[in-house]
Amino acid sequence: METVPYLDLRPQYRTLRSDVLKAVEEICESTTFAQGPATSDFEAEFATYCGVDHCVSLNSGTSALHLALRCLDVRSGDEVVAVSMTFIATAWAISYVGAKPVFVDIDSVRRTLDPDKLEAAITPRTKAIIPVHLYGMPAEMDRVNAIAERHGLPVIEDAAQAHGAKYRGKRVGQFGKIACFSFYPGKNLGAYGEGGALITNDASIAQRARSLRDHAQSQKYFHDEIGYNYRMDSFQGAVLSIKLKHLDAWNAARTDRARCYTDLLKGSPYKLPAQFSDSECVWHCYVIETAERDRVRSALQDAGIQTAIHYPLPVHLQKAYAHLGYRSGDLPVTEALCKQCLSLPIYPELSKEKISHVASVLLDLEKSRTLHA
Ligand SMILES: Cc1ncc(COP(=O)(O)O)c(C=O)c1O
Repeated sequence: METVPYLDLRPQYRTLRSDVLKAVEEICESTTFAQGPATSDFEAEFATYCGVDHCVSLNSGTSALHLALRCLDVRSGDEVVAVSMTFIATAWAISYVGAKPVFVDIDSVRRTLDPDKLEAAITPRTKAIIPVHLYGMPAEMDRVNAIAERHGLPVIEDAAQAHGAKYRGKRVGQFGKIACFSFYPGKNLGAYGEGGALITNDASIAQRARSLRDHAQSQKYFHDEIGYNYRMDSFQGAVLSIKLKHLDAWNAARTDRARCYTDLLKGSPYKLPAQFSDSECVWHCYVIETAERDRVRSALQDAGIQTAIHYPLPVHLQKAYAHLGYRSGDLPVTEALCKQCLSLPIYPELSKEKISHVASVLLDLEKSRTLHA
């Protein structure tokens, strides 16, 4: 039986192996394990890639979101508008600064923050807005920014799933006051361990974030405010510099694979991800929707095909956020997507044969369902 993993990072490592091992060896020999040139070089390269002035490397995307809110002085008693259709870390960061997440629904086709619902969520207590470029698809930043500007609110882009994605011809990360990235290993640009970064054009924000990530030291052992150890380690900086050179090619390969799925599944009853002329999605996930998600997923599993669910339960209905008082039905589009979403295998090295296999199992399933209906 042909098996298809959801994600396989090994083929990519094989192509990078000698560069990665050489870089690791150099760091060991120079003993620049922390705050050495590997992380500062990566910061300069990633800032240039994203088209911004500053990049602050960090130990995770969660830390990036947390520092973004700290840099904007969001605190207890404040509200931050975000989507519930995201990985939990978007909301964690709001909670870490003592603020209250206020969730808005997503657009059912784009699956990102619905600008039509944004204004109603803004109150005098709102201090920031966090749209998420979910699955690699840029949120509708023009409309989000227009509303934010009208209310004098800063926007933080959660770009953890969208390295290199473009909106109106410009890479994401250039649309908010701050943008946050994760380099978790399975991301489009993934470290060989944990990693994250915050990018911005604002020099004072970059300076504050650099201080906060390093125990908020103005000089060694003198601490101006409560800080953190959120530094990226040198091995990750070195690996990310090596991988960044390939990111555009890998994103193009993902786009190609997404196109293959769409061509093969076109006309089937599965709801396929949409494309938009204003955006270049980088296909962190290829997510179809079906009312029979669990049945389809287990049939794929039986056929040796691994899938994933991003995400089975929206943030507003998580036990951790029960105190916010949300109820089932409050965010219907988000809740429907959580019930119906199914992420198919996608990564740059995934062969076209494997994609055809996944598509044919999906189409056969549908055929046998209609025959037995
Ligand atoms: C949308 C989103 N935001 C934030 C994060 C958090 O990043 P990290 O896992 O690096 O802390 C992730 C990671 O999965 C994510 O997908």
